[in-house]
Amino acid sequence: MTKSIGILTSGGDCPGLNAAIRAVGKTAVHQYGWSVLGFLNGFRGLMENRTVTLDGDALSGILTVGGTILGTSRDKPHKMPVGGKILDMTDAMVEVYHQNHLHALVCLGGGGTAKNAYRLAQKGINVINLPKTIDNDIYGTDISFGYDTALSIATEAVDRLHSTAHSHHRIVVVETMGHKAGWLALGAGIGGGADVVLIPEIPYDVDAVAEAIRLRARRGKRFSIVAVAEGALSKKMAKALQEAPKQKAKDKNSPEAAKAKAHPDDRDSGQAGHTLRLAQQLEELTGLESRLTILGHVQRGGTPTPADRVLATRLGTACADFIAKGVFGTLVAARGDDVEAVPLKDIVGKLKYVPPDHPWLTCARRVGICMGDEVP
Ligand code: F6P
Repeated sequence: MTKSIGILTSGGDCPGLNAAIRAVGKTAVHQYGWSVLGFLNGFRGLMENRTVTLDGDALSGILTVGGTILGTSRDKPHKMPVGGKILDMTDAMVEVYHQNHLHALVCLGGGGTAKNAYRLAQKGINVINLPKTIDNDIYGTDISFGYDTALSIATEAVDRLHSTAHSHHRIVVVETMGHKAGWLALGAGIGGGADVVLIPEIPYDVDAVAEAIRLRARRGKRFSIVAVAEGALSKKMAKALQEAPKQKAKDKNSPEAAKAKAHPDDRDSGQAGHTLRLAQQLEELTGLESRLTILGHVQRGGTPTPADRVLATRLGTACADFIAKGVFGTLVAARGDDVEAVPLKDIVGKLKYVPPDHPWLTCARRVGICMGDEVP
């Protein structure tokens, strides 16, 4: 009997997903003679057994296409909204896997998807994960596809904002995605020549940022570009979060949570409004006019860069090889020029943050970028 494998894409979309689907599919069909079934809209499609056949035709012409031909969702197997209730549908998904006589299920996604895939693996099915996210925060892999494309979009934005900031003698705060890790803001900040880069890993002091901008103005540069990850937070907010995290999680309506909410620097990670507040604060503190640009989902859209196409193809083809060798319960990880299968149990629940001694941070500081913790 011909072997069948299933593929789904879960979590936020990103450029390179179709390139990876194509790579797994083409290797599976042409090299191994398997049939490939795509589940629509992430784990929901697996639960509902909504499928498309990924044959040669379906896999053709998608290398350069953005998004995912399978559709995606943020549904989780163990917390699935069904008929007005939240149910654990993990067993129902395992059942669909067996109904389709699958030999393996390939899940393309980020950290959340890895957790969900691991839950399914613990139920005894053959699961293998491919790392995608523009945030580049997946633990265990050097890089995830989607990141390079988002980096080039964000870098171009930082480039383009220079001429308008310069012409108007303004501060331009540009918000990138990255709710937990600052890879995108840091990369685009270095690549685009930002003057200030604020990332979640380094809580910032707004006075230090303002002083760095004032210093530039005194030296004749009356404009500044501030690249901020959506999850960046001030020192005050980091302290407030540290002091009251349990209370906040327990009861969002408690007086303590309300107090934290009233804090002038308050924001939840990724909450809209934080960067606007920062832009306003910098205007007040420096006397320079400021503007905010939120790049948002533009960073996730459109065709993948060549680097992402190559990465997705490397990981996707290797994924098919791991399936052929029976290597399951793993993340297909990029390690230098190699591809390795990393056990999901070793990576679930972990995130790849920008380490304090990372060479990108060192070089950012050496070219005079203010990282928000001190005046360069
Ligand atoms: O894919 C990760 C990410 O890009 C985060 O940086 C961002 O917070 C999140 O997705 C937003 O995604 P959505 O609007 O699709 O929920």
